Amino acid sequence: MKRLFSFLLLFCTCPMLLAISGDKDACPSSFGPRSVPQNFKQWLMQSSPSDRPTGYAAPRPGNYLIVGGGPGGLAVAAEFRQRGLPFVLVERSKDYGGVWNPDNPDSPAYPGLATNSSKATTFLDRRMPDSFPDYPTQADAHRYLFEFAKRHGLRANTRFQSKVIAASKDLFGKWEVTLYDASRDKTYQEHFDGIISANGAFQKDARRFSQDLMDQAKTQGLLALHSADCQDFEAFRDKVVLVQGAGNSALELAAALSGIARQVYHSYRSTPYIVPLYIGKTPADEYFAKTPEWILRWIPYSLQMGFFSRLQRKLIGEPKKLGFREPNHRLMERLPVSDRGYVEALRKGSIVLRPNVIGFSDGQANFEGALNPPLPVDAVVFATGYTRQVPYLDRDLVRLEDPDFTMPFHIFHPRETGLAFMTEVIVPKGVWPTFAAQARAIGSYYQARSMGRPSASQFDRMRSYAQNPDFKGKLFQKADRYHVDPSRYDRMLLDFSRWMDSP
Ligand SMILES: Cc1cc2nc3c(=O)[nH]c(=O)nc-3n(C[C@H](O)[C@H](O)[C@H](O)COP(=O)(O)OP(=O)(O)OC[C@H]3O[C@@H](n4cnc5c(N)ncnc54)[C@H](O)[C@@H]3O)c2cc1C
Ligand SMILES: NC(=O)c1ccc[n+]([C@@H]2O[C@H](COP(=O)([O-])OP(=O)(O)OC[C@H]3O[C@@H](n4cnc5c(N)ncnc54)[C@H](OP(=O)(O)O)[C@@H]3O)[C@@H](O)[C@H]2O)c1
Repeated sequence: MKRLFSFLLLFCTCPMLLAISGDKDACPSSFGPRSVPQNFKQWLMQSSPSDRPTGYAAPRPGNYLIVGGGPGGLAVAAEFRQRGLPFVLVERSKDYGGVWNPDNPDSPAYPGLATNSSKATTFLDRRMPDSFPDYPTQADAHRYLFEFAKRHGLRANTRFQSKVIAASKDLFGKWEVTLYDASRDKTYQEHFDGIISANGAFQKDARRFSQDLMDQAKTQGLLALHSADCQDFEAFRDKVVLVQGAGNSALELAAALSGIARQVYHSYRSTPYIVPLYIGKTPADEYFAKTPEWILRWIPYSLQMGFFSRLQRKLIGEPKKLGFREPNHRLMERLPVSDRGYVEALRKGSIVLRPNVIGFSDGQANFEGALNPPLPVDAVVFATGYTRQVPYLDRDLVRLEDPDFTMPFHIFHPRETGLAFMTEVIVPKGVWPTFAAQARAIGSYYQARSMGRPSASQFDRMRSYAQNPDFKGKLFQKADRYHVDPSRYDRMLLDFSRWMDSP
């Protein structure tokens, strides 16, 4: 009976595992000249014979600038160090950690932030210590990253309080970088052969919100701020607070503020699926990561999704039953949101749902739909996410939000051989192992270039036209291209690195 139950539970949960471990070969599609490559081999087959070099090219040694000392920048710095590639890492704050550095004024973290990916899937090389909680706090994550930098000897190559202001190519093809050293209040220029941007996708300076709504709310005398600026929860005490958005920030803040504010209203545009942090006593991502691969291979995806939907309904409840509108997507077609006390607060009535807010007048919030009356509120939090940007590069050179601008493997520039990006992709688990895979791919390319390997020159010829492989599989069909199946994506990065590393 116990075995039958375990099997059923495993069976029920494999779709989320799919999200974590990939679709493997469960649904291969035929690969013709116009189809999307399904694996690295098919990606490579796009090269024309003239792309393929016949021998070694001239070695191109270089010195590299890594911008940002968060998990992405640290991962690529450690990779460069290991491969003997010269680099300087600049970080505008006083310490490593990015989002996870509690003293970083540009971090969007709010009080009490803990990861929503467990320590079982959140690591760069070594696992987090056993003494850390299942979902590490911001301070834990910071400690881990600090230790990582120390272990890899990155300090000697790091300049803190150094911000990249601008970068452009000079007449000789080198990158002329303008830096601001806050410790000396000095701006200076330096030249590099390559830049690896790891400036983060979720930093305060990239807050996304409707300026019009923000201005209207402020004009009405309301306390109005973006989720990244919610550093002091006391400011909301006994107030009627409206939270806009339905991502992790919105649901976590709504839940946290529901214990402080007089009333929290939650205004949303798209209905989210909410998933639990734990299955039994095990963190959900850890539990799914342990599911054997044969289950993924042999059980059809639709069946897996059916069972996973049932599990989600049993543990949390259908969005409609919680009071949301019918979602316009199925589970795992977009990133689900983790439940950190939100569902309980919603059931208790300390959070009340409202449609999307469209304006503020007479001290009241106005909502979409004629049947939804205005509501008097004291404060509004725009938990409406972030815009992907690399502010120090020319906007025509890098357009991360433009669907027509595609970067090979999401990390290389389509034209500029001296530009690479530690692009944060969205995955249903910790993203740090994916950073390690991206770092390896970037390191392997620059090392291959420095050694004049044929693979590097072949890639340089392909980078402008070769179509990216399918990094999603069946996951995230209704989410943007940065939402990927980590197993597919990481595997293709690994194959890319092996190709670059082969003599
Ligand atoms: C609230 C929140 C919770 C999250 N929870 C999780 C989670 O549970 N699990 C998970 O895996 N991920 C989570 N993430 C995603 C998070 O973005 C990643 O974990 C990780 O921090 C991204 O690393 P990064 O290095 O790309 O960017 P960041 O951590 O943002 O670091 C970027 C660094 O670049 C520096 N920088 C930026 N511009 C410049 C410049 N011009 N010059 C010099 N330095 C510069 C910044 O100061 C910063 O230190 C969360 C994100 C947010 C916002
Ligand atoms: N504890 C944690 O680990 C934790 C906590 C918070 C955040 N995070 C992570 O941090 C990242 C950012 O999360 P986030 O929640 O800040 O951003 P997000 O995931 O991008 O969500 C933004 C939300 O705002 C809505 N929105 C955007 N523009 C809007 C507009 N003009 N009008 C109405 N609604 C609008 C979006 O709706 P649409 O879907 O309709 O666009 C979406 O619901 C994510 O990767 C998230 O997982 C993690």
